[in-house]
Amino acid sequence: MNKDLISILDLDQGELDRIITDAVELKRMRRSGIPHPFLAGMNLAMIFEKSSTRTRISFEVGMNDLGGHALFLNTQDLQIGRGEEIRDTARVASRFVSGVMVRAYRHQTIQDFARYSSIPVINGLSDREHPCQILADLMTIRERFGSTVGLRLAWVGDGDNVCNSMILSSVLTGMEISVATPPGYEPPNDIIDAAREKGAKIQLVKDPESAVEGAHVVVTDTWVSMGEEGERGKRLEAFKGFTVTTALMKKAEADAVFMHCLPAHRGQEVTDEVIEGPQSVVFDEAENRLHAQKALLVSLLAHDVKIKD
Ligand code: CP
Ligand code: NVA
Repeated sequence: MNKDLISILDLDQGELDRIITDAVELKRMRRSGIPHPFLAGMNLAMIFEKSSTRTRISFEVGMNDLGGHALFLNTQDLQIGRGEEIRDTARVASRFVSGVMVRAYRHQTIQDFARYSSIPVINGLSDREHPCQILADLMTIRERFGSTVGLRLAWVGDGDNVCNSMILSSVLTGMEISVATPPGYEPPNDIIDAAREKGAKIQLVKDPESAVEGAHVVVTDTWVSMGEEGERGKRLEAFKGFTVTTALMKKAEADAVFMHCLPAHRGQEVTDEVIEGPQSVVFDEAENRLHAQKALLVSLLAHDVKIKD
């Protein structure tokens, strides 16, 4: 049976732990120049409806590192752009490649793709979730703190796709999450309910100061996600007061780290001083996209490979 990664909760705790442990090992191997062609001869199709820097580069380089190949396909160039149905594209792709990564506006598009595919499908970001980002984020948090157990994470800003996956991931990690958003920009109720029903400790607050109190990890993201450009003016106004500043970071734990999936907008969701400052781990976080996704690809595409005992 095929396994997809469409929501971060498509993984159980054991699978998540395994991916992060393997990612750390793959990072060590890459840095030591040890070849690791676990996916030799395999192809990954990468379908993009929206722009990307990190996701595209990390999946493409990741497949190369693993001895395979990645195909960059944007929807304007595919027949999808001229109306070919997702269900036909999914079945055709399944005849050619070993796996597909899809970045789409609508989460439903990725679910439809998976429904008609006979190969693993990976969500490379939708309007609802960004699970690959969270794999890298959790790896980065583990590198810094050794474990996620007992940590508190503060999300400041928009209750968006990345925030949703972070909230859901706390079901697997046990991290307590406090989310501060302006009214009307909270994460969707069904995400909060799903996480709480599975035992996650999620707090919704109105001001960034209460969210960061006692936090070991402070996270933010753009105030205007891809597809929301038409709401830019309204959003910039609504999010005033939600910038992660040095003063805000001082209210978190002394050893707290600052994280951001990037791309960042200095002077909006974060100041230049914070993102360039000593608490910022954003470039480790970006690099870890590569290692975490390589571990994910091996787990989905080569079930019999054991990277680390
Ligand atoms: N963080 C992230 O997914 O970046 P890209 O949009 O550049 O892929
Ligand atoms: N929330 C952002 C994340 C970008 C990686 C967006 O969807 O545009």
